[in-house]
Amino acid sequence: MPDNKTSNKPSTTADMVLVARALHVREYSPPVFDDSLAFTLLPPFWKVVLSNRLLTWIMMYGLLGKQSRLMPEVYVRARWAEEIVEAAVERGVEQVVILGAGYDSLALRRRDLMARTRLWEIDQAATQREKFRRMDKHGLERPANARYVEANLETDRLETVLEAAGVDRERPAVFVWLGVTFYLTEEATRKTLTSISSHMAAGTELCLDYMADAEHIPDDWKELRDTCATFVAKYGEPWVSAYDPAEVPAFLQGCGFSSVDNMQPHQIPPRYLHRHPSIVFPEIMGFARAVV
Ligand SMILES: C[S@@+](CC[C@H](N)C(=O)[O-])C[C@H]1O[C@@H](n2cnc3c(N)ncnc32)[C@H](O)[C@@H]1O
Repeated sequence: MPDNKTSNKPSTTADMVLVARALHVREYSPPVFDDSLAFTLLPPFWKVVLSNRLLTWIMMYGLLGKQSRLMPEVYVRARWAEEIVEAAVERGVEQVVILGAGYDSLALRRRDLMARTRLWEIDQAATQREKFRRMDKHGLERPANARYVEANLETDRLETVLEAAGVDRERPAVFVWLGVTFYLTEEATRKTLTSISSHMAAGTELCLDYMADAEHIPDDWKELRDTCATFVAKYGEPWVSAYDPAEVPAFLQGCGFSSVDNMQPHQIPPRYLHRHPSIVFPEIMGFARAVV
């Protein structure tokens, strides 16, 4: 965070990601993304809410009714990124790095992938400590080949963090960076991207999501953006950067990536939601995959 407000306490937005994933699994069968551990990792308050239909309705469709419209972005991006990781591991990539991991559960759920790769989760200390506390409470052991690394992407140099954590720069890796770039300044994002492209071996892949700037958001979605921006700012995690979706490939190329596959917000539903026509994707965020 630019003002470092959240570094002393666990991320609230990471909890909201868990809420979105857990609620989605409860509401859709089959779900777009099946995070079977999201409910387990929730804090007690949210477990009570999601265990009761009436409370769920009051909270998610009443009190947070507007903000809830953002939730499909959270689970669709998770599905998209996990497919990218699966394909990379299938090709023989043996290093996975999750930046701003929050309560991501890939390391805990996908023992099949973990048997074939090493994984690093990078996040701020308070969120990581809270994740360990919840994992311990539920008997979720840290996989032997997972490493949990504290870093602040706004202030730390990623290449130094990766080096100290034992990421092998001579071998390709896949980086997953979801739900984070909009909490960082454009400068910090550029620095992190340049660290990856200049430090890591050719063939290293990255997937991230980004916020579209106000000018490039359809009118129907502007209110959602403003409501959610106010909500996250209230919890000390303001959205501080946004991009013209059409310019994202040039931005990534300028940061040293050679090949970019950019999915602008309106391009995502036909690819990921055709089996779930009732789910409306919020057209305020896009996904980009890039290769060093
Ligand atoms: C909205 S959550 C996303 C969590 C996870 N990536 C996901 O999509 O499920 C944002 C995460 O980014 C982390 N984060 C925010 N600013 C950060 C920074 N400056 N350095 C490292 N991590 C940061 C937060 O601690 C939090 O875990």
